[in-house]
Amino acid sequence: MSHGKIITLSSGAPLPQIGLGTWLSKPNEVENSVEIAVRNGYRHLDLAMIYENQDEVGRALKKVIPSVVKREELFITSKLWNSSHKPENVEKELDETLKLLGLEYLDLYLIHWPVAFPPGGFFPPHPTKKNEVAIDTETSLVDTWKAVIELLKTGKVKAIGVSNFTIEHIQGIVDATGVWPTVNQVEAHPLLPQDDLVEFAKKHNIHLTAYSPLGNNLIGQTKLVDYPEVKEVADKIGATPAQVLIAWGVYRGYSVIPKSVHEERIKSNFQQITLSKEDYEKIFAIGKNRHTRFNIPVTYDPKWDINVFNEPIERTATHKVKIA
Ligand SMILES: NC(=O)c1ccc[n+]([C@@H]2O[C@H](COP(=O)([O-])OP(=O)(O)OC[C@H]3O[C@@H](n4cnc5c(N)ncnc54)[C@H](OP(=O)(O)O)[C@@H]3O)[C@@H](O)[C@H]2O)c1
Repeated sequence: MSHGKIITLSSGAPLPQIGLGTWLSKPNEVENSVEIAVRNGYRHLDLAMIYENQDEVGRALKKVIPSVVKREELFITSKLWNSSHKPENVEKELDETLKLLGLEYLDLYLIHWPVAFPPGGFFPPHPTKKNEVAIDTETSLVDTWKAVIELLKTGKVKAIGVSNFTIEHIQGIVDATGVWPTVNQVEAHPLLPQDDLVEFAKKHNIHLTAYSPLGNNLIGQTKLVDYPEVKEVADKIGATPAQVLIAWGVYRGYSVIPKSVHEERIKSNFQQITLSKEDYEKIFAIGKNRHTRFNIPVTYDPKWDINVFNEPIERTATHKVKIA
């Protein structure tokens, strides 16, 4: 069975270019999705502590390892949540993830977001402000990155990286430690092509993984799969709109991690098709002059001047991240 195109990371590890996303799968859905995916050739799984379903993923893994795949044939990514950024909590959360999954190691461990919350629940409430999350303004990204680097010595992670980091964030942690992240996982699709990050990543041999490749419509906008341009290309080449969007990310060199809990979609999303330059450009044009970000982490107090994305998007929470 073909397992799709493989990318080689700067760590030397092979990464299957299409993986399965697991966020927002309802209880009892993700166990089934992961099992179906692995039985149908997926070897790359994208997980996170905050998805609160790693126990279910662990149950699925028990069903497929070793009867369908050997552990070493899978590429499993998970992510450190914001409330475990304090250096003393980093390995603790990794251990909890490994326990939930029933695994000895992860192939890739990412800092999920470039913002720290104080310990105490996934979204510790702000001490005084209703509907706002508390921010840990003491722990810097460099503090956390140093603790993540230490994990490499434990053998519990094969490679380390970041997620939702801007160029400034990456430059900050590298200047302080000399250690480059292997991967930056970011939202990327035709409405948010991330050209500046692509160029930076290429220069420094960082691999970009594209999340929300179908443009998860959390903010109630038209789903990218329903855009006429996407449908038109799909009809022309006899593919599904989702396959066109996944191929668009593949064309740009990303690994792409669409999420689905439906068997037919899980299977068809994995059938890698190739876009011609002309079709790629037609889809690229969708985002011209109307960039949209679908994933905004939480509500921060604008007065704290937090700008997680370092860009002037209206909906972006503002918060000056403590890098060093
Ligand atoms: N690092 C981060 O901060 C971060 C943030 C967001 C996401 N992620 C990761 O990236 C993964 C993917 O992103 P995402 O879940 O936000 O969005 P996505 O994969 O772009 O879109 C998922 C949505 O598309 C639907 N879908 C899947 N296949 C389809 C198809 N063939 N045709 C039509 N609709 C289809 C799914 O519904 P059904 O399930 O009902 O099929 C779901 O509603 C996540 O699951 C997670 O692993 C990471």
